[in-house]
This record gives sequence, C-alpha cells and structure tokens, in this order.
Amino acid sequence: MLRFEQLRHRYGERTVLDVGDLRIEDGAQMLLLGPSGSGKSSLLHIAAGLLRPTEGRVWLDDMELTGMHGAALDRVRGRRVGIVFQRLHLIPSLSVLDNVLVAQYSAGNKVDAGVAMETLDRLGMSAKAKAKPSSLSLGEAQRVAIARTVVNRPRLILADEPTSSLDDANAEQVLRLLCEQAQGATLLIATHDARAKAVIPQQVILKAAAQQVVA
Ligand SMILES: Nc1ncnc2c1ncn2[C@@H]1O[C@H](COP(=O)(O)OP(=O)(O)OP(=O)(O)O)[C@@H](O)[C@H]1O
Ligand SMILES: [Mg+2]
Repeated sequence: MLRFEQLRHRYGERTVLDVGDLRIEDGAQMLLLGPSGSGKSSLLHIAAGLLRPTEGRVWLDDMELTGMHGAALDRVRGRRVGIVFQRLHLIPSLSVLDNVLVAQYSAGNKVDAGVAMETLDRLGMSAKAKAKPSSLSLGEAQRVAIARTVVNRPRLILADEPTSSLDDANAEQVLRLLCEQAQGATLLIATHDARAKAVIPQQVILKAAAQQVVA
C-alpha cells in the first residue's frame, strides 16, 4: 500500500502539489493523469523517495519513506521500488542482458542470469539479449527498461510517461506488458496519453488550477 498523508509540495514559494490524503491499495494499477505542470513527475519522485515533500508524509506499507534517510532509504528504494522513466537510461556500452544484470546488482539482489533471461523472455526480448541498446527500436528499448525494473520484483512500480514516444501498437503493448509483469505490484503510471485509459481504467487526476485530487 502506498499512502500519502496531507501531502503538499512547493518549489520555492509556489505550491505545485496538494494531494491531501491519498491511498493506493496493494496491487492497484492506476494512471496518474493531469495537464503538463500539474505535478505528476513530482508526485512519482516523492513516491519513490527521490524527492522529499515540503509537507506531509509518505508511507510504503509499514515504512514511512519521509522518515528515512541515507542508506536505509536507498535500501528500501532498491529493494521495493521500481521506476520506468520516459528517458530510459539504458547503459549503451552494455548488452541488453547486462543492463538487466546491472539492475539486479544495483538493487542489492543476487545477480542471476537465469532470472534475467526469463524476464527478458516474458517481454519478448530474449532473442536480443546480446544486442546493444543502440540497435533496438524504441518499443524494444522500452521493453528492456521494463525488464530491468520488474526483474527485482518491486512492490511498487512507478512509470513516468512510458509510452509518450511510441506509436499506438507499441504503446498499447508496453502498457499491457507493464500491467502483466507487475505481478501483483502496485503500479502507478503518469501520463497524458489518452490511449492509456483503454488499458488501465483506474485513475488519479491532478488538476492544474486547484491542485487537488478529484478522482
Ligand atoms: N526542480 C524544480 N524546481 C522548480 N520548479 C520545478 C522543479 N521541478 C518541477 N517544477 C515545477 O513544478 C511543476 C510540476 O512539475 P512536474 O514536472 O511535476 O509536472 P508534470 O505534471 O510531470 O508535467 P509534464 O506533464 O509536463 O511532465 C511545474 O510547474 C514545474 O515547472
Ligand atoms: Mg512529468
């Protein structure tokens, strides 16, 4: 369960997020919608423990992320949270498989090529295990980015605009794979991609003007 308690965030004087209390149940799959500048990316960074909110608390299960610092916070992030960014940050000099192995290593998990290959296989990417990221199509690279995230079986998966640079067919496939491969994790996807609503009906909407959650 991901829970925000009286959460607000300001950059300087300007309040960009005012979500109050919000609770996202275990295993929920939700879109985080709202116009550009409404604070979607900021909220994901706060949920990941990458950004400390100026007010309020964030809980992941029984752990208060806003009460944790340094190595303890890093450990929770590595073990429990997976993030898919719009810019994929694949390591260009490493093969597809090695990119997934690095993700296991960085999370502090056992580096296991068997598990990594299985994960790539579920995403239809095992045949490209030896390829370099530069030789992949955008949709393929996005699938590797998902493999790298789900290989650690995080409890919470956060994705920021994962489909914005994909065509219709790839966008739908990437969303469906994210949902399938979440394997019971809580999934929160920030997007202004209307196509996503066909795949994931549940939504949290951030309003630009009132800065309040309305649904
Ligand atoms: N580091 C920062 N310092 C100051 N202002 C920031 C910072 N990061 C974001 N903002 C501002 O906070 C507001 C929310 O930004 P955020 O990136 O969270 O919105 P978003 O909903 O993800 O937008 P988009 O749909 O364009 O990605 C914006 O007005 C942005 O300019
Ligand atoms: Mg954003």
